Amino acid sequence: MALILITGGAGFIGSHLTRHLLAARHTVRILDCLAPQIHGQVPTGLDWLNGPGVDFIHGSVTDELVVRKALQGVTTVVHLAAETGTGQSMYEIARYNSVNVGGTALLLDVLANDRHRSVNRIVLASSRSIYGEGAYNCPSCNNQKRHYPDGRNMAQLSEHRWEHSCPTCGDNLEPVATHEDDPAKPASIYAATKYAQEDLVRVACSALGVDYAILRLQNVYGEGQSLNNPYTGILSIFSTRVRRGQHLPIFEDGHETRDFVHVQDVANSFLAAVQSPSALSAVINVGVGTKTSVAEIAAHLSVSFGVSPDLLMTKEYRLGDIRHNFADIKRLQKILGYQPEINLATGMQRFARWVQRQVLPEDKLNQANFELKSRGLMGE
Ligand SMILES: NC(=O)c1ccc[n+]([C@@H]2O[C@H](COP(=O)([O-])OP(=O)(O)OC[C@H]3O[C@@H](n4cnc5c(N)ncnc54)[C@H](O)[C@@H]3O)[C@@H](O)[C@H]2O)c1
Repeated sequence: MALILITGGAGFIGSHLTRHLLAARHTVRILDCLAPQIHGQVPTGLDWLNGPGVDFIHGSVTDELVVRKALQGVTTVVHLAAETGTGQSMYEIARYNSVNVGGTALLLDVLANDRHRSVNRIVLASSRSIYGEGAYNCPSCNNQKRHYPDGRNMAQLSEHRWEHSCPTCGDNLEPVATHEDDPAKPASIYAATKYAQEDLVRVACSALGVDYAILRLQNVYGEGQSLNNPYTGILSIFSTRVRRGQHLPIFEDGHETRDFVHVQDVANSFLAAVQSPSALSAVINVGVGTKTSVAEIAAHLSVSFGVSPDLLMTKEYRLGDIRHNFADIKRLQKILGYQPEINLATGMQRFARWVQRQVLPEDKLNQANFELKSRGLMGE
């Protein structure tokens, strides 16, 4: 029977994927260090790690002995373990590099040196962030040329020039769906480490004859996402503020957009990648393929909690944030045969119902913003 190793399997996406894999009668091994930033100082709600069908190893992907042990007898690795805060990555560069790049390199190193290797597929969780600002057209030039603007710098952001402009006519560019062959242009350290993970997996797997799938996830939301981590997860950060009766601070002008995909659709995409009977060797976007602005999602969330939206346009901005991104998901459908099922209204209701059953967390947003402002990485 297949033994699937999920690194970072105790986290948001990993916990959903584990349920899907167990339901499909796989055996799952989880390697996770239960990072306090995500799980709190005293992790709770993780009894399922010791439940039937799950073999839990408490340790880090940066520890060689632990990684060796975790890989024994495994047929497929789903590599999720990572540091995930875009803003935080801009000043904790060595830590992000060590866990995300170093951890991936170690995993592949152990595999490359194992003459009795049982692993035949690696599925990596990558990120839409690797596209940086993503792809655009100019509606005025109307020539279908794809533009890939550079990341926005502090000078541009401080003048509140949020949108990208056409190098030919100067008008605002319009975002179009990024597809997997668009160039990678990471605009944050987090994104740079995710892109490095992709390269390591692609090159090592090709050399070792191991199949791989790289799933570039858009903004994942849903039940089970960390409510403790103030460095990532806009909906969990906002949900805490809604429950505390606080306004929702909206960066820039609120018209920046993301592709919000429910965690059930993400877990199903991973399941399809794990179970695919044909070799993959592919990079695949995972999203719903539509864009929603941050102001819209904040209002939607408030309504899901049964309160009137209390949005405050702060005009704050963070270096490394991108303006727009949404995915072309044709390859998800073509290669993995998967079509997202959860629409935003259903997903938000499910998320809000789940949040209301959780202990009310501290609001650590000000602390996270202070860390950025004190380093000149955030302005207003
Ligand atoms: N959630 C999203 O919106 C999103 C979007 C794009 C990509 N991703 C990627 O998906 C993956 C999973 O994300 P998630 O949302 O489930 O994150 P998460 O923070 O909920 O889970 C990550 C898990 O990894 C564990 N971990 C962290 N460092 C580790 C280490 N050194 N060794 C072992 N375990 C470690 C944590 O304890 C946690 O359980 C990540 O690679 C992330 O970059 C997530």
